[in-house]
Amino acid sequence: MSKPKVFVSRIIPDAGLDRVKEACAADIWQERLPSSYDVLLERVQGVEGILSVLTERIDAKLMDAAGPQLKVISQMAVGYDNIDIAAAKERGIPVGNTPGVLTEATADLAFTLLLAGARRIVEGSNYIREGKWETWEPKTLLGADVTGATLGIIGFGRIGKAFAKRAAGFDMRILAYSPSLTAEDAKQAGAKAVDMETLLRESDFVSIHTPLNAKTRHLMNKERLALMKPTALLINTARGGVVDQKALYEALKNGEIGGAALDVTDPEPLPLDSPLLGLPNVTIVPHIGSATIQTRDRMASMAAANLIAGVRGEPLPNAVG
Ligand code: NAP
Ligand code: GLV
Repeated sequence: MSKPKVFVSRIIPDAGLDRVKEACAADIWQERLPSSYDVLLERVQGVEGILSVLTERIDAKLMDAAGPQLKVISQMAVGYDNIDIAAAKERGIPVGNTPGVLTEATADLAFTLLLAGARRIVEGSNYIREGKWETWEPKTLLGADVTGATLGIIGFGRIGKAFAKRAAGFDMRILAYSPSLTAEDAKQAGAKAVDMETLLRESDFVSIHTPLNAKTRHLMNKERLALMKPTALLINTARGGVVDQKALYEALKNGEIGGAALDVTDPEPLPLDSPLLGLPNVTIVPHIGSATIQTRDRMASMAAANLIAGVRGEPLPNAVG
């Protein structure tokens, strides 16, 4: 029997790719940069499965370009805001993602950003490279205490809760907000459930862990940023679109908030002429939340398992929705 044809939109770790190649006739995009949308439209024609990453736009047009034999879309990520889930549902195409296996790595990175922002690590490193380190100084590069500070977590799901665990080790007071969060759920995770306004007003650090969707786009807008303390640090490892980046720039420039530490931006990559890059109180890394060897292996393996189950017409081990 011939193997099912699939398209893999990027070279993923062997832990997943080898499984895909064994079970499927795989057309694998070989370039380091993603294909254009138009090329993608051509490459998916006639496939039964698509293994995507978050840089690909997987919309109704693309699903129709693939054809009615398309049986599965398997995303190697937990977030799936690049996929039109409603369109997939209408066409009866299950969508897989990779929840859980990247929770700890992403929470680690978010806490790294919190510490880096609080203690001005990137500024300090640049200070040396720029030849400014002449002596020990009593009042230079002073940051903020993390231990005992108040942390606000917006989006208290898998990653939000894992982030809270790390914060507990620093004796932080933890406030949390999610639409369906109960006081009991929050308490069990060492946090206090509060409304968004209280969280923003009282926190020294605010960390975002929501998905990006129509309700969360620009959740952190001008008005909400204005509620934050002028010394507070905003950490975002969710999606760039959850923050109104123009409003963020203004808030940072005008001293309405203390700083930002970002793993995600809008757009990605962040253009080199972005005004955010000119601000000393901004730490930015290039969307590396899940970027550990072990985590990416697990994500690739899970994405492969979803893809293979889908082309075989079996339930996906991890389906969205
Ligand atoms: P999750 O377990 O589904 O948690 C998401 C949380 O967000 C839920 O608690 C949800 O609350 C909450 N939420 C939804 N809408 C909200 C709103 N309007 N306001 C406040 N909270 C809201 O997802 P996860 O596995 O933790 O992942 C979260 C997101 O992180 C992903 O969707 C992805 O975009 C991002 N991520 C980024 C990286 C990276 O590399 N930087 C890596 C992994 C994930 P309810 O249950 O009450 O709706
Ligand atoms: C990464 O950003 C993910 O959503 O897995």
